[in-house]
Amino acid sequence: MGPTEQDREKQAAATHAVQGVREGMALALGSGSTVEMAARALAERFPRGTGLRLAVASEGMESRMRSLGLPLTPLSEIDRFDLMLDGADEVDPELDLLKGGGWALFREKLLARMSRSLEIMVDRSKLVDHIGRDHPLPLEIVPFARPYVLRELSRRGLEGHLRRRPDGTDRTDNGNEILDVKLPGPSLSLSALDQELRTVPGVVETGLFLGMAARVYVGLPSGKVEVRQRP
Ligand code: 5RP
Repeated sequence: MGPTEQDREKQAAATHAVQGVREGMALALGSGSTVEMAARALAERFPRGTGLRLAVASEGMESRMRSLGLPLTPLSEIDRFDLMLDGADEVDPELDLLKGGGWALFREKLLARMSRSLEIMVDRSKLVDHIGRDHPLPLEIVPFARPYVLRELSRRGLEGHLRRRPDGTDRTDNGNEILDVKLPGPSLSLSALDQELRTVPGVVETGLFLGMAARVYVGLPSGKVEVRQRP
């Protein structure tokens, strides 16, 4: 089976984003299928990663980078990334994001916080009028704290569901769990919710990336890219 329209849109966004990578940059990559496309484009532009310092947000991406011949630099040797390229599960009109569909939200947020600029590559299906429209909010939590976190969610009228992979495994690369939480609707204050959830002991990080993306590249079926800039 050939690439789907969604694949072509992701590819367009990834190819476009990689054109902004310059020699000498410290570059962070998130994880997911769009990021893998960006990594392939990067390997073509910078064979063996020459001239770049690279880090990625998941063990899966680490092995993809090895297979592409792109060496990684330890975080101990990078203070700040010039740029981070990542995908997203949802993007709203303010360029706020919901991420974590690929289990890597904690490392993605850490690398994004270490980056001067976060640029997001998406296909059109990721554009939503409000965060939470199509996906639950993922929370990375400490497994020991799960009963407590579930009760704290329930006190706030929220329900968390432990995420499992098809093979039954349920740990992130950090040895934690993911709770998926259905959000109530568009009227919600995302920043208040984010702040509140992050004060619950046991919640390591949320999948809300608010005010973080500088630019979003939306791949179009024509192969062109629409660039959305933070207002
Ligand atoms: C991983 C993520 C991914 O960026 C998100 O799930 C999008 O993935 P894809 O590029 O495969 O559509 O947040 O935690």
